[in-house]
Amino acid sequence: MTAALQERQPRLPPAYRLVTLDSVESTNDEAKRLAREGAEDGTLVWAREQRRGRGRYARNWASPRGNLYLSVVLRPDCAPGEAAQLSFVAALAVGDAVGSIMPPLTEVHFKWPNDILVNRRKAAGILLESSSTPAGVLDWLVLGIGLNISSFPAKATVPATSLRFEGCPEDVTEIQALEAVSRHLLSWVNRWLEDGFEPIRRALMYRIYGLGEEIEVRLANDTVRGLFRDLDKRGGLVLELPDGSQRTITAGDVHLRP
Ligand code: BTN
Repeated sequence: MTAALQERQPRLPPAYRLVTLDSVESTNDEAKRLAREGAEDGTLVWAREQRRGRGRYARNWASPRGNLYLSVVLRPDCAPGEAAQLSFVAALAVGDAVGSIMPPLTEVHFKWPNDILVNRRKAAGILLESSSTPAGVLDWLVLGIGLNISSFPAKATVPATSLRFEGCPEDVTEIQALEAVSRHLLSWVNRWLEDGFEPIRRALMYRIYGLGEEIEVRLANDTVRGLFRDLDKRGGLVLELPDGSQRTITAGDVHLRP
């Protein structure tokens, strides 16, 4: 029997239906496949390793054993445009889960749009994918979460870290992390469903990386620089440009300027 099979089963809130896999290409791909087959809201795919883990912009997400890889199918009753807010909701959930696991005084920040930094290095990322009907109604979305617990890639677009490297106790495993993430995700998704994006925005602002500082946002074909002023009511990044005008960015990668 493998070590993984000897471990206890994760205890998740009853709102989730857990699908446990030892190895998979990508939990997002598996969750999308299940969603297309009609999987219910709350179906959570968890794998011990991924062979082709994906990040935003189709980047590779290194996925060896010992880290957390999960994807949740959600079917919220909202417009496809609003559903994108759930990636911020997931970032908050992962941030709270990490805060509950790590020793006191560990710094947890959110790097726009939805990276989770531990002591200012990336420990987790979120990949949201969705599908709408031809009539423009949201059918399903998949929230993919990768959290580095035991290891992190030496070379990455953003300097990376793992919870273990930052001082997480040795006895914290993927199971505890999965339980903490699922608990906080349920609570933040319910908050969003009940009260909308504003409480999410406020919670993000409290710990957003680079607010009030000079930043560089790398867009698909351009780079813009300016002062990170605010998050708007949909989660867009409000940048004050050198000429004093404001520009709201909806997709890109943030870098602090040296
Ligand atoms: C990013 O920061 O670029 C997002 C990374 C998301 C990685 C997770 S791991 C679980 C799920 N399955 C995937 O293939 N990707 C997401």
